[in-house]
Amino acid sequence: MIKAKARLIVQIKTPLSPYKTAIFYEILQNKPKSTGKETAMYILSIESSCDETSVAVCNERNVLSNVVATQIAEHALYGGVVPEIASRRHCEAIAAVTKKAIKDAGISMSDLSSIAVTFAPGLIGALLVGVNFAKGLAAALQLPIIPVHHLRSHIAANYITHRDLKPPFLCLLVSGGNSHIIRVNDYCRFEVIGRTRDDAAGECFDKTARALGLPYPGGVKLDHAAEGGNPDRYSLPFPHVEGSPYDFSFSGLKTAVINTVHHARQKNEEINVPDMAAAIRRRVCDIAIKNTFLAAENYGEDTIVIAGGVSANSELRRRMKEECQKRNLKLFRPELQYCGDNAAMVGVQAYYEYLDGNISDLSLNATATLPIDYR
Ligand code: KG4
Repeated sequence: MIKAKARLIVQIKTPLSPYKTAIFYEILQNKPKSTGKETAMYILSIESSCDETSVAVCNERNVLSNVVATQIAEHALYGGVVPEIASRRHCEAIAAVTKKAIKDAGISMSDLSSIAVTFAPGLIGALLVGVNFAKGLAAALQLPIIPVHHLRSHIAANYITHRDLKPPFLCLLVSGGNSHIIRVNDYCRFEVIGRTRDDAAGECFDKTARALGLPYPGGVKLDHAAEGGNPDRYSLPFPHVEGSPYDFSFSGLKTAVINTVHHARQKNEEINVPDMAAAIRRRVCDIAIKNTFLAAENYGEDTIVIAGGVSANSELRRRMKEECQKRNLKLFRPELQYCGDNAAMVGVQAYYEYLDGNISDLSLNATATLPIDYR
């Protein structure tokens, strides 16, 4: 335990944060012997904000292990995430997932330097499982806790693959619960310039997919159904927010699709699922792309990053690439395996949070809502 704490101090020479210092003082007083391994900082990271229990071991941007236990099959029975079930499944899975992450990384618990955990935003019961497990580990191993904001870690998913990517850049962050355009000024400095006024892009995909009878999780199923569909067959609205050119509104689009489906059913008419899926996918991408490139132009950004579960969407990935090439902008997209919720992205963001002095003690609590630019 002492070895691990020593490693943390030697590796990171940042000024101590004036708050949350209890564990730090303890570390500093320990004056442990050198282990000869001081260059390695192993962060064990935990993600449990929704329906994936994930634990990873990372060393800066290197992912040594990343174990994801998904609950999708169970929530699919209900057509969406049932929060109470999610919390229970996290409780059941988290110890075994942690054990496997340590084993896959080829290290032992005593090699760890710190424990990182998603503490906000997300389903409160689900977050609490991860946060309390992290606190238990931190107390037992006498390690610091690094609290990580879920959306920050989605952006950090890009750092895993793109070693040359560093802030500043402009990020389109589209997930199941959020849709933002963010100026990432530094690893832990964010300026939200556009946000959804109602539904997130992922929510729009999921709810319209459900209306079309596609199984949960709808976004990816709709993406597949859209392949080969004719996006011109159905005409869908192109909502925009008056006076706020970077903000999004997806609920009008969702409602238009649901109404079209209901009216067709009332008249005993068939909806062509691939064609409607293609129309929805194209419209969501139109909206996301329009706002992002308007922001890039007005703010003079030359690097664009996409992040969040919806960044796995095949049309969004393709069109973002084409648009960036047209404008001579650099584009970074997360690897598909890191688009959805996973602990590797948490561990990578945790490294930068640590450098920034964002360290917590056992008083850490989970928070269901918190803006990405919190300080
Ligand atoms: O980032 P994420 O895994 O969870 C949140 O933090 O919200 O995002 C999940 C969202 C869901 O709405 C899911 O349907 C959507 O990402 N998604 C997709 C695709 N893959 C996942 N949406 C469109 N196309 C996809 N290929």
